[in-house]
Amino acid sequence: MQTQSLWEHTLTFFPQFLAALKERVSPDGTVAVIGAADGRLVLPLAAAGYRVIAFERDPLALHGGDVRLPGDIDDHAMGLIDRLKLEELHDRVQIVEKDFLDAEPLSALCDAVWTSCSWHYSANHHRPLAEFVARMQLMVRAGGLFGAEFMMPVEERHHLIEHYTSPEKLSRHFTSSWSVLLSLRTNEFTEQAHIGRPQDHTHRMGLLLAARTPK
Ligand SMILES: C[S@@+](CC[C@H](N)C(=O)[O-])C[C@H]1O[C@@H](n2cnc3c(N)ncnc32)[C@H](O)[C@@H]1O
Repeated sequence: MQTQSLWEHTLTFFPQFLAALKERVSPDGTVAVIGAADGRLVLPLAAAGYRVIAFERDPLALHGGDVRLPGDIDDHAMGLIDRLKLEELHDRVQIVEKDFLDAEPLSALCDAVWTSCSWHYSANHHRPLAEFVARMQLMVRAGGLFGAEFMMPVEERHHLIEHYTSPEKLSRHFTSSWSVLLSLRTNEFTEQAHIGRPQDHTHRMGLLLAARTPK
């Protein structure tokens, strides 16, 4: 890629999702990405040939703008829209500039849905995690794939917020019409400072991949 995401160096289980996607979904299938940010994971999906529907509520992530990076460095960040144009991938990506929790249902089901560390954002805490998860599940066709990586609780305050969850708790949302394919977790690890977090900090992350039962 000629362009770089602000999130490029953060830990992700995306390779595990991509491997499951390649096994289960044809290369021109449609993947919805919830919380697309500036496209760190959208661009590789589009480059691999998938059609992507990218939901993002933050105008800065989509349109770019001035940002303060760790070390008090002022910079101009490129947004998802310009990154897609520069990489000539814009034809494969539909952007939905909306809060996912308020977005209209799509006109067709997707082959897969993916989110990377989005639902723990405080803007989502006024609605139950079950709603976020159910909205994602409802987007997936029979036989399709659900993938989510998410923050697990580390600080005391996280234990009071259900959006910091665990693979076990999350798997309870997957009833008989789903099979959980894979769940993973990290130990606590130190992540380097990044946009919005000016100091190095501790995270713990989980992954859950599930397939919707074929008809
Ligand atoms: C941590 S960032 C994603 C970074 C990701 N790990 C990556 O590598 O691209 C999460 C993104 O989800 C978005 N987000 C959170 N809740 C959302 C919602 N309800 N609707 C749309 N976007 C949302 C945030 O605005 C943010 O850009």
